[in-house]
Amino acid sequence: MPYSIGLEAAATAFLSAGFATQFTLAVVVFLTILLVTSTFQRDAPDVPTSLPCYSIFSIIPFFRRRYDFLNWGFHATGQSIFQFQLLRNTVVVVSGESARQAFFTARGLDLTEGFKILSGAIPMVRGVTSDLQTKRIALIHRRLAAVQRNTPLNDLIPIILEDSRRMMETWGASGTFDPFDKIYELVFQTTVRSLSCAEISDDAALVSRLKTLYDRLDTGTTPATVLLPWLPTPAMIKKVWATKEIYDIVTQAIKSREESGISRNDSLQHLLDSGDEKLVIVGFIMGLIIAGARATGTTASWVITFLGGHPEWRVKAASEVKSLIESYSQSSMAADSLSSQLAAIPLEVWETKVPVLDAIIKETTRVAQPHTAMRRNLGPPLYIDNKIIPTGAYVVYPFSDVHLDPELYPDPWRFNPGRPEPKNTTFGYVGWGGGKTLCLGTRLAKIELKVITAMFVLGFEHRIVDKLGNTATSLPTPNWNDILMCRPQNGCSIKYARSSIPL
Ligand code: HEM
Repeated sequence: MPYSIGLEAAATAFLSAGFATQFTLAVVVFLTILLVTSTFQRDAPDVPTSLPCYSIFSIIPFFRRRYDFLNWGFHATGQSIFQFQLLRNTVVVVSGESARQAFFTARGLDLTEGFKILSGAIPMVRGVTSDLQTKRIALIHRRLAAVQRNTPLNDLIPIILEDSRRMMETWGASGTFDPFDKIYELVFQTTVRSLSCAEISDDAALVSRLKTLYDRLDTGTTPATVLLPWLPTPAMIKKVWATKEIYDIVTQAIKSREESGISRNDSLQHLLDSGDEKLVIVGFIMGLIIAGARATGTTASWVITFLGGHPEWRVKAASEVKSLIESYSQSSMAADSLSSQLAAIPLEVWETKVPVLDAIIKETTRVAQPHTAMRRNLGPPLYIDNKIIPTGAYVVYPFSDVHLDPELYPDPWRFNPGRPEPKNTTFGYVGWGGGKTLCLGTRLAKIELKVITAMFVLGFEHRIVDKLGNTATSLPTPNWNDILMCRPQNGCSIKYARSSIPL
C-alpha cells in the first residue's frame, strides 16, 4: 500500500535523522496537536470567554509582553474575565473590584502552586530545590518573620548603612549612572546581607557572582523553561547550572560557619541556632533572595529615578531625614559621617515617623511594580463574578487593574506621593499584597528602602538627564511589559554629585 510505504519511509527517515531534527519534529507535532484540539473548544455560559487565538500564540506574549497581552485580552473579549490556554493549563485572567476581592480571599487559591508553574524562576533540581516548595515553606516563612523581629532588624540598620556607604564611596565624587544597574546592585548587596551571612556578604566578588547567577535565573526564564521544564533547552541547562552554583556557594558558607565555631549575629546564625536542617537553611537563603532582591531592587531604582525627576519630593524626603538626624544624632552634621548619624535613628522611628518616605514608597509600588499575582485553584471549583474557575486552573490578577485605574488614581502614570487614597473600594492598593497573601518581607524591604534613600538624598545631589547629559525634558516611564524591573523603555540616566556631608 502506497500509504504504508510512505509512512514507513517517513519513519525510517525520522529514526535515521539526527537528534536535533527528531527533537524539532517532535515539538512541531506536539504543538500541532495542541493547536488542532484548541480549535474545537466550545464554552459553556459560566465558562470565561476564551481568547480568540490558539493556545500557542498566547505563550510568548504572556511571558514577553504581559501587560500589553492581558490588556489586549480584556479588549478582544470585551469581558472583565477571560481565559486562555498555556499548553494544557487553563489560565483565567480576572479584573474589577469584586473579582479582586475574591482573588485575594478565596480559600482554594494557592500562591505557591501558581507561582511555581507560571513564574518558574527557580528550576526544580532534585535534592536541591524540588522538595522545598511543598514541605518546608511554612517553616521558612516562620524563620523570615523571626529575622524581622525588632532586635535583629534594629541590629541590621547600621550594617545596611555601612554596606551602602562602602558601595556609594566607589561611585566617586560625581558621575552618571543607570539606577537600574547601580541602585539594584546596592540593594542586592543589602538583601544578601540581610538574608544570609557574613561569609558571603563580606566578599564583594562572591556577591557579584551571586548576582550574575540570580540574573541568569531571572532572565533565563523563557516560555520553554516554564512550560516544558523537562526539556533540556540551553536556557534550562543554564538555569540548572546557576541553581547548582548558588547552592554550592550557600552550602560552602554554612560549612565555613560550622567549622569556624564562631557565632555571628546574622540570619544564617539564627537558622543554625534554631536547629534547622540544611535544606531549610539553603531554601531560606536561595528562595528569599529571589523573592526579595528583585522586588526591593526594582522599587529602590524607581524611588531614586522618581526623586531625580521630581525635585520637590527629593527636597521633602531630604528635609524629613535631616530633621530626624537633628533629633537623634549626638553630634553635629558636619562632624560625623552620614551613615553613623543615620545609624543613631531607632528602628521604631524609621517605621513610624517618616510619612514622606512612606508616601514615596507607596506611590512607587503603585505605579512601578508590574506584578501579576498568580494562583492555582487547589479545589473545589469556585466562581468569580459568576465565571467558573475549575480545580487545577490558574488564575491571574494583574496589579495594573487596580494601580493604574484612572477612576481610583486620576492621571495614573503620574508619580504623585501626595495623591489621596482611593475611597470606597476594596483592596484599592495591593502593593504589599492583600487578603490572605501579604508580603512576608515587608518590614525588611521597607527598612532597606528607607535607609538607602536617606543615604542617597543626603549624600548626593541628583537629577535625570538625557543622552547629552542635560536635565531631561521628559521623564522615564515605567514599562510594565518588563516584568522583572519595569525598566523604562528608553533607558534612564542619573547625573549625581556628592553633597558636602561625608558618607
Ligand atoms: C519592595 C519590595 C517588595 C515588594 C513590593 C513586595 C511585594 C510583594 C507582594 C505584592 C506579594 C504578594 C504577591 C501576590 O499576591 O501574588 C509578596 C509576597 C511575598 N513576598 Fe514580597 N515584596 C517585596 C520584598 C520582599 C522581600 C525583601 C522578601 C523576603 C525577605 C519578600 C518575601 C515575600 C514572600 C515570601 C511572599 C509570599 C507570601 C506568601 O507565600 O503568602 N518580599 N511580596
